[in-house]
Amino acid sequence: MSWRNIAQISENVYWVGIRDWNRKLFDALITLPHGTTYNAYLVIGNSKKALIDTVNPGFEKELEEKIKIVANPSKIDYIIMNHAEPDHAGAIPYMMAINKKAKLVTSNKGANMAQTFYKVPENRIIAIKDQETIDLGGRTLRFIEAPMLHWPETMFTYLEENKILFPCDFFGAHIANGLYDDEVDDLLVHVQRYFGEIMMPFRIMGQKAMEKISNLKIEMIAPSHGPIHRNTERILNAYRKWVNGKTKQKSIIVYATMWESTEKMIQPIVDILASEGIEIALHNLASADIGNIAKDLVDSKAIVLGAPTVLGGIHPLGVYATYLVKALRPPLKFGVILSSYGWGGGAIKHVQEILGQTKLEIVGAMEINGPPSETNIKQITELGKNLAKKIKEET
Ligand code: FEO
Repeated sequence: MSWRNIAQISENVYWVGIRDWNRKLFDALITLPHGTTYNAYLVIGNSKKALIDTVNPGFEKELEEKIKIVANPSKIDYIIMNHAEPDHAGAIPYMMAINKKAKLVTSNKGANMAQTFYKVPENRIIAIKDQETIDLGGRTLRFIEAPMLHWPETMFTYLEENKILFPCDFFGAHIANGLYDDEVDDLLVHVQRYFGEIMMPFRIMGQKAMEKISNLKIEMIAPSHGPIHRNTERILNAYRKWVNGKTKQKSIIVYATMWESTEKMIQPIVDILASEGIEIALHNLASADIGNIAKDLVDSKAIVLGAPTVLGGIHPLGVYATYLVKALRPPLKFGVILSSYGWGGGAIKHVQEILGQTKLEIVGAMEINGPPSETNIKQITELGKNLAKKIKEET
């Protein structure tokens, strides 16, 4: 595919986005093993044109060249900023500099951010209200406030005549491959990973947004990362489950081990949970990918955290995992903590301090000196049986 390639995705609607195959990290935190896209869309009405979202800094010229294939970039009337984060809004200063007449359309909060982040003059901003519309001549854009998906200012744009929803980050996926959802075999895995990393902390706001769009006729969902969804029911069904915290009979197990004592504590609980029919997602924190952990936190009912005590507290990788659970706010119901120490404990207390007030029911916590004895193994197996029972009974 040429770097100038664009795609008509519907009548008078063009994908003019960027495929960033080489990006490996997002927010200095999230790995991108499959790159990502910054999707921008051009809507051409009979009298006006609108660009929905822009692209990451560094790709401004490429965006301009792509737009030129179907329209004059200096004749675009509206630049829609659904979200102020630079991966979508970073090219706004460039686009507004080459086009002196375009107005920036964004939410009220977005208007402030556009001035702060991108120095857009106030007189070039239209602060749009929830459910307000703009007529492009035979193409009507409706704006739907959707705060915290993923920043406070976020909104969705709905193109009424084509029945396309442009929700920016929501429903997105970090994958550079494929224009449409049906072109990527394992798309839902990527979508779930993205949800875990970006949207899971905002599940309540996600529920509100899902309710808000439930009366729209949507034939296509065109997010700003990853493929465009033609099978809208598939992605909507997945999101309905995830925003409502619907979990599986599944336990995520994350652990760190220094001299294998903690690993020997993990093995019997893995065995008993598996033999009880509980789905297991096992991650050794020394080499685990944070995105995969986030993905498995989306639909796990329980977590088993194993880590040794180091210098009076839990091993730093255990701190990382515990903090991740606190920050991402997954719908976990049950927890088990397993730890081994050389000469002094403290890991369990440390985990509880990091978690603070939590709805997580700690089914059991064991701290032992050195490797587990036969008695310890039996105790851990009993703990695992108890956890499996809780997982199965929870609806
Ligand atoms: Fe893709 Fe929140 O930016």
